[in-house]
Amino acid sequence: MARAAFLVWVLSVILATTNLAQGLGVNWGTLSSHLLPPKKVVQMLKDNGIKKVKLFDAEPSTLNALAGSGIQVMVGIPNDKLEKLADSYSEAQEWVKENVTKWLHDGGVSISNVGVGNEPYLTSYNGTYVKTTYPALKNIQKALDESGAGDKVKATVPFNADVYESSSNKPSDGCFRKDIKNNMVEILRHLRDSKAPFVVNIYPFLSLYQNANFPQEFAFFEGSSKPVRDNNIEYKNVFDANCDTLINALKKEGFGNMEILIGEVGWPTDGDKNANIKNAKKFYDGLLKKLGKEEGTPLRRGKIEVYLFGLFDEDQKSVAPGDFERHWGIFRYDGQPKFPMDLSGKGSGNQMLKAVQGVEYLDKQWCVLNSHVKNLSQTQAELNYACAESDCTSLGTGRSCNLDQQGNASYAFNIYFQTRDQDVRACDFNGMATITKSNPSVGDCLFPVQIVSAGASRHGAVGAAYALSIFAGLLWMMI
Ligand SMILES: *[C@@H]1O[C@H](CO)[C@@H](O)[C@H](O)[C@H]1NC(C)=O
Ligand SMILES: *[C@@H]1O[C@H](CO)[C@@H](O)[C@H](O)[C@H]1NC(C)=O
Ligand SMILES: *[C@@H]1O[C@H](CO)[C@@H](O)[C@H](O)[C@H]1NC(C)=O
Ligand SMILES: *[C@@H]1O[C@H](CO)[C@@H](O)[C@H](O)[C@H]1NC(C)=O
Repeated sequence: MARAAFLVWVLSVILATTNLAQGLGVNWGTLSSHLLPPKKVVQMLKDNGIKKVKLFDAEPSTLNALAGSGIQVMVGIPNDKLEKLADSYSEAQEWVKENVTKWLHDGGVSISNVGVGNEPYLTSYNGTYVKTTYPALKNIQKALDESGAGDKVKATVPFNADVYESSSNKPSDGCFRKDIKNNMVEILRHLRDSKAPFVVNIYPFLSLYQNANFPQEFAFFEGSSKPVRDNNIEYKNVFDANCDTLINALKKEGFGNMEILIGEVGWPTDGDKNANIKNAKKFYDGLLKKLGKEEGTPLRRGKIEVYLFGLFDEDQKSVAPGDFERHWGIFRYDGQPKFPMDLSGKGSGNQMLKAVQGVEYLDKQWCVLNSHVKNLSQTQAELNYACAESDCTSLGTGRSCNLDQQGNASYAFNIYFQTRDQDVRACDFNGMATITKSNPSVGDCLFPVQIVSAGASRHGAVGAAYALSIFAGLLWMMI
């Protein structure tokens, strides 16, 4: 090979492998009635060059699929396990043995972190996990250390951004919430000593959702006509302001240099007037561009490690925080990207988000309201039943399916039918329903055909707790 050609080749290999925005990872949640096969998901991660993934548990099926992939993994411990792990060191040893060290062999899983609990100090939990989180964290790290994995695997706690607040709207007034401050300082000391990162989830969408006066543009990254001035710094987006509020809170306790990792950030696409594809695309375009430039935040320039939330829509999450909860995916339920996304953040278009390949669907058929039904008031009870058993959060004004009464009934009948794997008995509704081969989808409103499930979610029970976690008490009260 001629030398010039060789250099071009080397250069293209280097460019091809470093295209992804630095520090980019994804959250992989599994609270879905129909799960994509984990191996196909892992192949998709590889196809996209994604090298980091965060889980909410340590399911063997997921870890098996990740084995040998080289993808760096944060496994998770659900909040309802914290008490046991806090009370018993041998439980912690068992957990580490079964869910970490067992996987660390050659060709196994590259586990980098254990997330102990998930947003355990959320105000909506009323302090339920405040006594157990720190002891559980200590026990897990000690078990990691004693197993010999402690150098490579660091235990941490994925916190919600409501562990800190600002008395004004300025990041420089950032400090940890009073009710948990002492406890936080103990955790911070532990994280520093074990060289573990501080993990925090940041949701600009919730700023908008929870505060009608929140300036829309401040939730995105396109500049703001009303920036927040804080000493010499101008904040033009809530993401930067939120990160720097944390940095100031850390500084005040003497941990100003602590490594910070953004455990979750994203934008939902349905279930609320601000949750749509247009806003999500705008948010991700801005976020990825920012990551691509490695500009960091005003107080900490450079690369930030960020895990997007999340991969797929999850139709079994609790909607207690809001109907948007089931629509956080950058992919639909079936592994199709919802909108084009340039993962390089450079606008070059050669690192566009790629779909999950080889997805198997059920038959191309739908369950709809039979056109013979004239008395529509009778459909309501059937709709209520269908929607209690499946996911109707796309229905309504300002959402993807703003339908008339017939449309609503058909949507509900179909979603129930699909959730039940197209069982013909699930398309009856007192004789009001019928199966059709013609796609009833209209405009943006998708009447889905379900996928062949790789197994139902095993986490129905913890679903509510995990979903509630998104319910951030947002510190960022604007003018
Ligand atoms: C390991 O993790 C799995 C999945 O999260 C859990 O079901 C199991 O109980 C854990 N093992 C131990 C010994 O706690
Ligand atoms: C927290 O307290 C509120 C008000 O007392 C209650 O409605 C809610 O159910 C509690 N939540 C939890 C998780 O205990
Ligand atoms: C339509 O159904 C409702 C509820 O079953 C019933 O009360 C009503 O009388 C029906 N209307 C007609 C015109 O049949
Ligand atoms: C359709 O269902 C949505 C969600 O329940 C509701 O908000 C809307 O009013 C319904 N539309 C009609 C015409 O009944």
